[in-house]
Amino acid sequence: MKRLFKATAVSPANIAFIKYWGKKDPLLNIPFNNSISMNLSNCLTTTTVEFNSNLSDDLISVDEKEISDSKKDRVTGLLDLVRKRSGIDLKAKVVSRNNFPQRAGIASSASGFSALALSASNALGLNLTKKELSILARRGSGSACRSMIDGYCEWKTGDGDNSSYAAQMAKPDYWHLADVVAITNKEEKKIGSTEGHELAATSPYFRRRLTRLPQKIKRIKEAFFAKDFLAFGKLLEEEAVDLHLMAMSSTPPVFYWNQGTMEIIHAVQKWRKNGLPVYFTIDAGPNVHLICLRKDAEKVAKEAKKLESVSFTIINEPCQGTHLKDKHLF
Ligand code: PMV
Repeated sequence: MKRLFKATAVSPANIAFIKYWGKKDPLLNIPFNNSISMNLSNCLTTTTVEFNSNLSDDLISVDEKEISDSKKDRVTGLLDLVRKRSGIDLKAKVVSRNNFPQRAGIASSASGFSALALSASNALGLNLTKKELSILARRGSGSACRSMIDGYCEWKTGDGDNSSYAAQMAKPDYWHLADVVAITNKEEKKIGSTEGHELAATSPYFRRRLTRLPQKIKRIKEAFFAKDFLAFGKLLEEEAVDLHLMAMSSTPPVFYWNQGTMEIIHAVQKWRKNGLPVYFTIDAGPNVHLICLRKDAEKVAKEAKKLESVSFTIINEPCQGTHLKDKHLF
């Protein structure tokens, strides 16, 4: 019987509480600093990979669209790593579907490359450990290494390919936080995180950020493990502003925010004054992640939807990391 080199994986995006910004090694996606994140139960990518001797080239489609050029090269680059490791040199058909808008400040590259790493390696019979999978996903997109892990995790920079990976910090149910993503703009953002990472070190504040981060990470972990939401939220916002300060003060400057972003930031401050505990964080895009306790998530979403610039919201909880699925997409 012909062996079927096919597998499907599903993976969540993740939101970083402490952000990865700037690469020590751009080829290997090794960051300057450690980062901490939670993965997102309702921002999922499903990917099916089939390696097949009938194919003369890799065929890759994302959300029903065939991809080419540099986007395709990134996917092929990860497939090549898996082919090399397994010694099986077959081309692949890859079909990937997101249940949320791509490239809009929700890390679709994180969920995409982690789903690809697990499905491709599994299809070629590699039985990798979580650590190996996290390393492999990182080669596709840095933050993808964090999506591999269940619940909350920390990605330690490490000093080379084999020591830069994410590991669990706490299980999904350790603390019932929620991330209500407020979508302000479904348009694709103009500048991706790759360009932002390249420019990071041109900010005059970048070195200062790196010096202060170890202490900030220590404090946010203390607040997290003590479940001190107020202390945690304050540090979370401080960190989000810090990342965008780096971006806005780079040469050339990068502005990810739009008017909607500012409207939501002001609303968050008002909600807090009115007794609703919620804090914001923002990745490389205009959408705002409203971090609150799970019990307040519906209320936060309801308030957010009242704002003119919010088109819709997605409520997420921490969840299982990248995992295999029996049902294939083709
Ligand atoms: O993994 P990348 O290259 O998409 O970079 C992610 C950058 C941020 O989302 C802004 C921060 C982070 O740590 O997720």
